[in-house]
Amino acid sequence: MKIFLDTANLESIKKFNDMGLLDGITTNPSLISKEGGNPKDGMKEITKIIKGDVSLEVVSTDYIGMVEEGKRLREYGRNVVVKVPITPNGLKACKHLTSEGIPVNVTLIFSPNQALLAAKSGAKYVSPFIGRLDDIGQDGMHLIKEIKEIFSNYDFETEILVASIRHPLHVIDAAKIGADVVTLPPAVLDKMLNHPLTDIGLKNFLADWEKLKEGTDIKI
Ligand code: E4P
Repeated sequence: MKIFLDTANLESIKKFNDMGLLDGITTNPSLISKEGGNPKDGMKEITKIIKGDVSLEVVSTDYIGMVEEGKRLREYGRNVVVKVPITPNGLKACKHLTSEGIPVNVTLIFSPNQALLAAKSGAKYVSPFIGRLDDIGQDGMHLIKEIKEIFSNYDFETEILVASIRHPLHVIDAAKIGADVVTLPPAVLDKMLNHPLTDIGLKNFLADWEKLKEGTDIKI
């Protein structure tokens, strides 16, 4: 399973990329806006730091506008994946950009039928938002199961990119289902990494080692 970071924060991106954990990045207009500054510079910088796919989202809602923005975004870096919303114009733009060799991530997916239509339009990724479904009392992970089953029945190359992840259990469930990608807020990736027993265990190991070498010059 690939791990993407769901942020436009350069510090977080560098931190986890230096640990070798990141296969890509997803952003959206809200995440870009949160960082302030010149959005173009930020987006270009991300494409330089990250080797894998970087999803950058269009903000036009008409077909021509989406295609033009998509092409301009693609010039920000060779690894840009154009993110479009699942609307009639979004699907049309997806088909167009894909036919020109520009990969597309279709976002704001909330139903299996939307995922099916995005796959038929040639999307490289579909982004089902599971946390936002959970928020309104629906089972977000069930959507991932349904999309997985549908995609497995056919020859779609479209990858399931699980988005709107809220906690580490979402990641485990997505991995059990066999989702292709999870995109994680930095705080969730931190939580996956940390465990209080690891901290206690390491503290005790080091304290015991200190006792052993007391009064000696032993070094490993
Ligand atoms: C994915 O591409 C989106 O940027 C993101 O996962 C949305 O998550 P949210 O529901 O936490 O805003």
